[in-house]
Amino acid sequence: MGWHEKATGFVPTMGALHEGHASLIRLAKSQSELVVASILVNPTQFNDTRDFETYPRTLEGDVAKAQAAGADAVFAPSADALYGGKPEAAPVHWGPLTHAYEGARRPGHFDGVVAVVELLFRAVKPSFAVFGEKDLQQVGVIEKLATERHPGLRIVVAPLVREPSGLAMSSRNARLSAQGTNSALALHQALWAVQHAAKDGEVSKAVQAQREALTTNLAVTLEYLDVLDARTFTPWNGGQEARPYVVVAAEVEGVRLIDNMPLMA
Ligand code: PAF
Repeated sequence: MGWHEKATGFVPTMGALHEGHASLIRLAKSQSELVVASILVNPTQFNDTRDFETYPRTLEGDVAKAQAAGADAVFAPSADALYGGKPEAAPVHWGPLTHAYEGARRPGHFDGVVAVVELLFRAVKPSFAVFGEKDLQQVGVIEKLATERHPGLRIVVAPLVREPSGLAMSSRNARLSAQGTNSALALHQALWAVQHAAKDGEVSKAVQAQREALTTNLAVTLEYLDVLDARTFTPWNGGQEARPYVVVAAEVEGVRLIDNMPLMA
């Protein structure tokens, strides 16, 4: 039996729940008596209106899925109610953690994430909160938020969940056609190839080769493929304390996908 506390575990989500979210809820349930899941498509973390508008909204089914996974309560406020008026996010400057990679590609994204998570933490008052490693940079941002502003709050990081094909589970996958789903496999294959090459000390060569493969793949529009230190989101320099991860972001059929893998399996 693992460690168990009579406390509130919290799983914030934007809905469109899939097996990845269910695994977060199950993890929370394994560590606490009471699990609260929240569902809110947070407007302040979208820098693309179309992405916000087309984000899947499936509240009824989500509530059933959350309950089936072990959630005792679902908190689904409107954005206006949670923010207490027009949703707005104050700028957050935490160096590369908020401004490189996802932060650079999606200006203001982490301002919105920090704003909504801060409000959700205040409303739910959890003992711990679970975040998926799929959003690796978000995990770093939330860990910093907790350290700086919620020192008593434990952040639990849950492993990324993949489809049997290897595709990282994401609510956005629902927007891909069967062909797009197939094309998206190239992302995880590129990560895997770099991870595999790391065993032979061939990381830079593999990164170059995989960047080239994704760039020449007509079904994929590559944004970045890199090896970085997940603690800081700065390029990995081989240091012993670093947490090296291979990260990728690309568009397939106009759907933006991200994925990651630890460099050392
Ligand atoms: O990871 C997500 O789904 C969102 O960024 C979060 C943490 C629920 C905040 O809206």
